[in-house]
Amino acid sequence: MHENKTFSIVRKIGEGAQAAVYLATDESGYASALKLMPSSYGDLESIQTEQDILRAAAERGEPFIARLVMSFRDDLFICFVMRMYAGSLEDLMYPQLRDRNSPVPRNIHAMAAELVCGLARLHKMGYAHLDIKLDNILLSSTGHIVYTDFGMAAPVNAQGCTSAATANGTPGYGAPEGYLSDLLGRDGRITQKADVWSLGILLVQVLNQTEYPMYTSLALRKVEEWGIVRDVDDDTARARTAEAVRFLVATTDPLEIPEIQQIATRDPALHDLLSKMLVRSPQERWTAEQLQGHHFFQDVNWCELERCA
Ligand SMILES: Nc1ncnc2c1ncn2[C@@H]1O[C@H](COP(=O)(O)OP(=O)(O)OP(=O)(O)O)[C@@H](O)[C@H]1O
Ligand SMILES: [Mg+2]
Repeated sequence: MHENKTFSIVRKIGEGAQAAVYLATDESGYASALKLMPSSYGDLESIQTEQDILRAAAERGEPFIARLVMSFRDDLFICFVMRMYAGSLEDLMYPQLRDRNSPVPRNIHAMAAELVCGLARLHKMGYAHLDIKLDNILLSSTGHIVYTDFGMAAPVNAQGCTSAATANGTPGYGAPEGYLSDLLGRDGRITQKADVWSLGILLVQVLNQTEYPMYTSLALRKVEEWGIVRDVDDDTARARTAEAVRFLVATTDPLEIPEIQQIATRDPALHDLLSKMLVRSPQERWTAEQLQGHHFFQDVNWCELERCA
C-alpha cells in the first residue's frame, strides 16, 4: 500500500539480477508493472540513477522511455510503479524464434528509427544505458518501442563519457572497449558510443530473428568446433562460452560475421547503417544523433515519429 493506493499482485512478469517485476492492479482494476528491489540491496547508487532517469523522463514526457507513475520505499522494498506494456522484444520474438523460416519483421525500418531516436534522446538527457538487449526494450500496446531497465545506466559528462573504465553489460551485446582498454580514448572512459554498438548487435538479431546476439551464436559454434565445452559441467561450459564471446568480440570484425553479411544483399542501406554502428573504435563509431542523418532514415520525419509514439 502507498499514498492510499493498494496494489494486488497478479503475477510475476520478469526477474533480473537485482529486481523482480510484477503485474499488479489497483483498487479500480487498473494494471501497472511493479518493479521491486530489496531495500537491503547493496548498490543503492544504481537504483538512484535508475530512478533519476525514470523521473526525468516522466517529467519531460519522453516518448521512448518506460513511464514511471510513482515510486516508494519501505523497510522491505524499493518499488517503481510503471505503466504496463505489452512485453519485451524478447517475449514478443520468442514464438518466432522457434520457426527459422519466419518472415523478417516488416516494420524493421520503423523499429530501427524509434530505437535510434529513443537512444539519441536518452543520450541528450545526459545518460548512457549500458545494457541494451532484447529484454530491456518493451513494446507498447500500439507497437512503439520503449527503453527500460536503467539498472546499469550511468550519467555522462559533456563529452558523453561515463566515469567507468570498464563495462559489465550482457556478454554478446557489450562493446569491445568495455574490456579492451586500448580501444578507449585519451580519458580512458566508457562513453555513450557503447550503446550504439549494443543497438547495432540488437538490430542484427531482430532482423535475422536469431535466438542469440551474433557474437554469442558465433561463440557457440566455435566452442563446439574447438571442443572446449565437452566433458565439463554446465557452469564451466557457460564460463568458457562467455570467455569465447569476449575473445571473438576482441578479434573478429563484426562485418565478417555471416549474420551481418546476409544483410548486405537483402538491405544494403541497413547494412551500411550497421557498418557505422558496429565500428570497433568508439572514436570512429557514429553517435545516435549522427545515425539519424544516415540515408537509411532519409524518409523519416523525426518530429512526427516522436509525436506519434
Ligand atoms: N513496464 C513493464 N511492462 C511490461 N513488462 C515489463 C515492464 N517492466 C519490466 N517488464 C518485464 O520484466 C522484465 C524485467 O524488467 P527489468 O529489465 O526492468 O528488470 P531486471 O532485468 O530485473 O532489472 P535488473 O537488470 O536491474 O536486475 C523485462 O525484461 C520485461 O519482460
Ligand atoms: Mg532487464
